Amino acid sequence: MEEMGFRPWQKGSLHGWLTAAVRLLFLLLACSVVATVREVRGNEYPGVQLKVQNNQVVTDNGIVEITFSNPDGMVTGIKFNGIDNLLEARNKEADRGYWDIVWNRPEEASMFTRIEGTTFKVVANTDDIVELSFVSSWSNSSESYLAPLIIDKRFVVRRGSSGFYGYAIFNHPKGWPDLDIGEARIAFKLNGQKFRYMAISDERQRVMPTDEDRASGRVLDYKEAVLLTGPSNSELEGEVDDKYQYSCENQENKVHGWISSDPPVGFWMITPSDESHTAGPVKQDLTSHIGPTTLNVFYSNHYAGKDVSMSFRNGEAWKKVYGPFMVYVNSVSPEEDQSKLWADAKGQMLMETASWPYDFISSDDYPSAAGRGTVSGQLSVRDRYMENRDMAAGSAYVGLAAPGEVGSWQTNTKGYQFWTRADENGSFEIKNVRPGIYGLYAWVPGFIGDYKYHLNVMVKPGSEIQVDPLVFSPPRSGPTLWEIGIPDRTAAEFYVPLPNPRFMNNLSKNGIGERFRQYGLWDRYSELYPKNDLVYTVGVDNYHRDWFFAHVTRKTGNSTYVPTTWRIDFHLQNVNFRGTYRLQMAVASATLSRISIGVNNLSQQPPSSTGRFGNDNAIARHGIHGLYWTFGFDVPGSRLRRGTNSIYLAQSSSARTPFEGVMYDYIRFEGPPRMN
Ligand SMILES: *[C@@H]1O[C@H](CO)[C@@H](O)[C@H](O)[C@H]1NC(C)=O
Ligand SMILES: *[C@@H]1O[C@H](CO)[C@@H](O)[C@H](O)[C@H]1NC(C)=O
Ligand SMILES: *[C@@H]1O[C@H](CO)[C@@H](O)[C@H](O)[C@H]1NC(C)=O
Ligand SMILES: *[C@@H]1O[C@H](CO)[C@@H](O)[C@H](O)[C@H]1NC(C)=O
Ligand SMILES: *[C@@H]1O[C@H](CO)[C@@H](O)[C@H](O)[C@H]1NC(C)=O
Repeated sequence: MEEMGFRPWQKGSLHGWLTAAVRLLFLLLACSVVATVREVRGNEYPGVQLKVQNNQVVTDNGIVEITFSNPDGMVTGIKFNGIDNLLEARNKEADRGYWDIVWNRPEEASMFTRIEGTTFKVVANTDDIVELSFVSSWSNSSESYLAPLIIDKRFVVRRGSSGFYGYAIFNHPKGWPDLDIGEARIAFKLNGQKFRYMAISDERQRVMPTDEDRASGRVLDYKEAVLLTGPSNSELEGEVDDKYQYSCENQENKVHGWISSDPPVGFWMITPSDESHTAGPVKQDLTSHIGPTTLNVFYSNHYAGKDVSMSFRNGEAWKKVYGPFMVYVNSVSPEEDQSKLWADAKGQMLMETASWPYDFISSDDYPSAAGRGTVSGQLSVRDRYMENRDMAAGSAYVGLAAPGEVGSWQTNTKGYQFWTRADENGSFEIKNVRPGIYGLYAWVPGFIGDYKYHLNVMVKPGSEIQVDPLVFSPPRSGPTLWEIGIPDRTAAEFYVPLPNPRFMNNLSKNGIGERFRQYGLWDRYSELYPKNDLVYTVGVDNYHRDWFFAHVTRKTGNSTYVPTTWRIDFHLQNVNFRGTYRLQMAVASATLSRISIGVNNLSQQPPSSTGRFGNDNAIARHGIHGLYWTFGFDVPGSRLRRGTNSIYLAQSSSARTPFEGVMYDYIRFEGPPRMN
C-alpha cells in the first residue's frame, strides 16, 4: 500500500501551462520512484517463517503473523499492521477462528461441535509456502461429542501474500457409523474493539451494532431478531438486528468482511469458487454478521430446510474438500478513504478467482487445472406456443452436479457442483470441473421448469467434452390465456411493502436497501388485508403493485393466525367445455404449506392441491426465495363459464405461525391444446 502514502504537490502553488508541465514531470518522477520501491520490496518479501512449539504453531511471512493452537488447529491469533490480534482475544482460544459442524447420530439430538485436531503435520515448508495440517480423527473409544469423521484442516501461508488460505477435507470412510450433518463451516470472531463496519457488497455496507447492543435489545418474533434499545451508537437506536438480513446466494458470495477504522484495516473472506458449497448457485446462506463475525458456510439447510439434508447410512463412504477460501487482510493510511479497503478486497477477489484452481495446494484431493476437465455445448428452448422455431436459451444457468432426478441439484449436498451462465445464444462452457460422473442440469430465466440431459457426463483430467445440441421443453400444454409474474425463481417482482417504521433497518449504504430483507413484512399482509384477502383481477391489476410477494397467514391478534385464500378473477370470451385447460404454478419458496386450488368453487370435488410441502423458512429469513417447485393442475372446461371466472388459491395448512406460506414465482393459465 506504499503508493497510497505518496502525497502530490500542494494545489495552487503553480499556474498555467507551467503547472501542467511541472505536474507531468512530477508525475513521471513519482511513478518511477514508486515503481522502484515496489519492485525492490517485491523481491524483498521474506521467506515464510514457521515456528512449531509445544502447544502452538506460528507462521510469519513479514506481512501477517498467524498463530494456531497445536494440535487443535484453531486460529488463535492474526497479527497485522500494528494490531496485535485481528481476532477477539477476549474469547477463549477455541472461539476465535474455527471449523465447526452441527451433527447427530440417527434419531438423536443434534450437537454443535468445534473441530479439534488430534495430530499436527507440516505438509509443505519452503521460503515460498507453508502448508499445515491438523487432523481430527475418531475411533470407537472417542468422546461421544465427536462425530465419526476424519477431518483434515489445512492452512496455507504464501510468501508476499496478505493473508492466508484454508480448506478442510471431510472424510467418512466406508463402514463407519451412521450420522447426519446439519452444518459445516468456518467462523472467525473478530476483534470487537476494532471492527465496527461491515461490507457484503457495494450497497450492503454499514456501521454495525455490537454484541453487547444486541444482548441488551428486545427479542422480536424469534430469537435471531432483536430490536436495539439504547445501543452504544445512538444512531442505531430502533434498528433491528438479524443475521439473516445479511445472507446472499452462493453465486454472489465472493467477498465480504469487516473494516476497522483505527487503524484502517480490512478483514475479508474471499471465496474464489463455489464448487464446494452446497445445493447450487442460488442457495442462500449467512455471510458476515454481528459479533463481529465472518463465516464461510459450506453446508447448511438455511433457506432450504430438511429437503436439503446430509445423511450417511449403512457405512456410506464420502469425502469432500470444502474450500479453499482466502482470508485477505489489507490496510490504508489513516488519512485515506477507507472505502479503498473494500475496493481493494474486490480486486483481490478477482485475482483469486482468476487463479482458480490454485496451483499451490498440496492435497491430492484438490486437483489443479491439469487434473480437471471442460464441458461445453449449446442449449435451446422449445415452446411451440411461443415460437415456431427453437429459441436460444440466453443466460441459462447450466451446471454439473451429482447424477439424480431433474432439478435434484438444488437439494444435492454431498457432491461438488459446477455452474455457468450461457451466453445470448445459449452456448456454455463449464471449466475446471473435477473428474467424476455428473448429471448436466439447466434452467432458463423466463421459462418455468428444469432441464436435465438424458445422459450422464464423465469428466476425466484434461477432458474437453462437447455435448450434443440440447433442447429444453418447459412445461406447457396450451396457449397462454393469462400469466402473473416473471418465471425467474424469485418473488422479487411482486409487491414488497415497506417495513413497519418501528422495525425499519438501514441495511445498505443508501438507506434500507432491498426491501425484502426488512424485518416483519409478514405482518404487513394483515395490515393491508385486515378482513378480506387479496383478489387479483387479470387485465386490470398489476402484479408489481397488487400481488403481495408472499401468500402468508393473517394475524388475528394475540399471536393467532388464520389461513388465507387468494382469488384470481379473469374473463373468458369463449369456453371449450370439452377441452382441458391447465394452471401452471411455479413456487419460489414454501414453508409448511398446502395450497388447494378451486375453479369457480372453493369446495370443488375432487380437490386439487399441492399437498403438504416446503420447509425452507425463507419468509422468516428474508430470502425472496427458498427452494423452487413447480405444479400443474388440469382444469376441465366444464368447470369454466363464459364471462367472469375465479381461481382460488386456498391455504389449507395449520397456520400456526406468521411464517407459514408460499412465495409464488409465476402463475399461468393455459387453454386446451391446439389440434395439429
Ligand atoms: C467399532 O466397534 C465395533 C464393535 O466393537 C466394530 O464392529 C467396528 O468395526 C468398530 N469400528 C471402527 C471404525 O473402529
Ligand atoms: C450469437 O450468435 C450470433 C449469430 O450467429 C453472433 O453474431 C453472436 O456473436 C453470438 N453471440 C455470442 C456471444 O457468441
Ligand atoms: C436510516 O438512514 C436515514 C437516512 O440516512 C436516516 O434518516 C434514518 O434515521 C436511519 N434510520 C435508522 C433506523 O437508523
Ligand atoms: C387476547 O388475550 C387476552 C388475554 O388472554 C384476551 O382477553 C383477549 O380476548 C384475546 N384477544 C383475542 C383477539 O383473541
Ligand atoms: C361446489 O362443488 C361442490 C362439490 O362438488 C358442490 O356440491 C357445490 O354445489 C358446488 N358449488 C357451486 C356454487 O357450484
